[in-house]
Amino acid sequence: MRWLRRPRSDRRPRSERFPAITAASPVVPGSVWRPLVAEHLDAGRPSGWWEPVYATAVAQGRRLPWQEGTAHPWVVGWLEDPVHAPPGSRALVVGCGVGDDIMPLLERGYDVTAIDVSETAIAWSQHRVGARTGREVAAVRWLVADLLEVSAAEVGSFDLVVEVHTVPWLPGVVRDAAMAAIGGLVAPGGVALAITEGATSDAARGALEGPPWAQAPSELTAYRAGGLVRLAVEHPSPGDGPTLEVRMTWQRPRGAPDGASLDEGLPLLGQ
Ligand SMILES: C[S@@+](CC[C@H](N)C(=O)[O-])C[C@H]1O[C@@H](n2cnc3c(N)ncnc32)[C@H](O)[C@@H]1O
Repeated sequence: MRWLRRPRSDRRPRSERFPAITAASPVVPGSVWRPLVAEHLDAGRPSGWWEPVYATAVAQGRRLPWQEGTAHPWVVGWLEDPVHAPPGSRALVVGCGVGDDIMPLLERGYDVTAIDVSETAIAWSQHRVGARTGREVAAVRWLVADLLEVSAAEVGSFDLVVEVHTVPWLPGVVRDAAMAAIGGLVAPGGVALAITEGATSDAARGALEGPPWAQAPSELTAYRAGGLVRLAVEHPSPGDGPTLEVRMTWQRPRGAPDGASLDEGLPLLGQ
C-alpha cells in the first residue's frame, strides 16, 4: 500500500497520456481484457488483472466498458437529497477508477480519500480530477492499495464510503471479504453508499456469466459482517431482465459494534 501524490513519471505530458472518456470514445473490446481476467484468476490473483487492463486501455487510447465519463447520477442524487444529512466530512471512494465520483464529493466540501488497486487508474483519476480545476489533485488523498489490505489506521475512519460498481466486478473468492472490509472503513455513525449490479433472484444469479458478476440478493447482506446495518435498498429502474442496478445505504451504528443484529428480518430484494 502506498500513497501517491503524483503519478509515476512519464515523458509525455499527462494530457496526452490518457484517453478521453465520452460516450463516443472507443471501448477496449472484451476479446482483449477478458483473457487478462482469466489469466490472473487462474493464477490465483483475484486483483491482479486491474493494472494490466488499465494499462492496456491507456496504451490503446480507449476507455474501459465501465467508464461513463460522469459521476454516477445516484451518487449525485444521494448527495443532493436533503433527507440524507451529510454524516460528516471524511469521504472515501473505494475502487475510484478514473475518479468520476470524486468530483461531487469535493464540490460538497468533503475531505476525500480515493483508493484503487491500479496505479494507472489512480494516475488517470488524478489527471481527470486535476483537469477540472487544476487544484483538486492535492486536495485528495490518493491511495494505491488493495481494499483487503488497507492499513489499520484507515479502519473506521470515514464518515461516508462510496462504492460504485466495484464489488460486482470482484470474484466470489474475495467478494464477501471486500464487502466486510468496506463496512469496516465506516466510522461510527457513518454511512456506506453502495451501487451495484444485482440479480433479481439467487436463481437468476446462477445463470449469469461475468465479470461483472451480478450480486445475488442473499449476497447483499455481507456488509453486515463489517458491522453495518441497512438503511435503504433501492432499485428505481428494475426493467424486465435478470439484473438490475441497486443503490444501498448502510450505516455503522454509534456505540453498537454488533450492528448486524439490528436489521435482521427486514426484507431484501426478492426475500
Ligand atoms: C468496475 S471498476 C469501477 C470503477 C469506478 N468505481 C466506476 O464506477 O467507474 C472497479 C474498480 O475497482 C478497482 N478495484 C478492484 N479490486 C480492488 C481492490 N481489491 N482494492 C481496491 N480497488 C479495487 C479496480 O481497479 C477498478 O478501478
